[in-house]
Amino acid sequence: MMRKLLISAVSALALGMGAAMPAGAEGHIEDVAFSFEGPFGTYDQAQLRRGLQVVQEVCTACHGLKFVPLRSLADEGGPQLPGDEVRAYAADLSIFDPELDDERPRKETDMFPTVTGEGMGPDLSLMAKARAGYHGPYGTGLSQLFNGIGGPEYIVSVLTGYTGEEKEEAGTVFYENTAFPGGWISMPPPLSDELVEFEDGHANDVHSLAVDTAAFLMWAAEPKMMARKQTGFVAVMLLTLLTVLLYLTNKRLWAPYKGKKTAV
Ligand code: HEC
Repeated sequence: MMRKLLISAVSALALGMGAAMPAGAEGHIEDVAFSFEGPFGTYDQAQLRRGLQVVQEVCTACHGLKFVPLRSLADEGGPQLPGDEVRAYAADLSIFDPELDDERPRKETDMFPTVTGEGMGPDLSLMAKARAGYHGPYGTGLSQLFNGIGGPEYIVSVLTGYTGEEKEEAGTVFYENTAFPGGWISMPPPLSDELVEFEDGHANDVHSLAVDTAAFLMWAAEPKMMARKQTGFVAVMLLTLLTVLLYLTNKRLWAPYKGKKTAV
């Protein structure tokens, strides 16, 4: 009985992992050890702030983040910018207000801008969860352990996966990229060494910039990851306690009958 159980448990795990594996098969995905992986992982506030800076200075030229409320930049567990900085940041971005029939500065209750048009990229709000290779936080967590968290690693791999080759097809330039499915992407390499300068003098080579950006985009897609992990942990602790209590109660209830050889 025990053996059968064990076999089915092992094969369930293997299947679970197997299902997630082919995700990365399309392109080369690098495994990055992010601070927020695993059951106790948390976002690194300084990293999120650097990522925000890269996104703001580089990516928002072509990408929107239309599902991310600006006020969430002040939330605990996120970049946690002071309220006045968030308001100032918001005020720098204008929005068309149909009631005023005019542009006005954004308030912190508005969303990040939407960006559309020729040559613009897809919205990045949910990109870290939307892309193949996102292995978590669902399931047993084992896949995440072996393959990395997925989505943000895909983003790092795309941002650093340019080979330098270009080709033009029907008037569009494509850049060879080892992570992008199909191998050719129409996004020109957005990062270069020292493109963004950080106040704290943090490393700003392409790879570091890509990792910080991907961490920020993971937070944008999953801002409540920490709170959910905490709830999950408390639930598991309570269930464990309940199991122990039930076991002891059961033992106690049956104690008078066990170990006695009663004639039936
Ligand atoms: C010059 C405009 C431009 C800039 C700047 C830019 N992108 Fe893009 N991006 C694009 C376009 C266009 C695409 C669509 C590419 C395609 O589908 O071939 C894209 C696609 C993407 C994708 C999606 C890949 C996929 O799987 O579909 C990601 C992720 C991405 N960009 C991240 C970023 C990040 C992060 C930055 C900032 C560091 C950035 N981009 C800066 C234009 C840009």
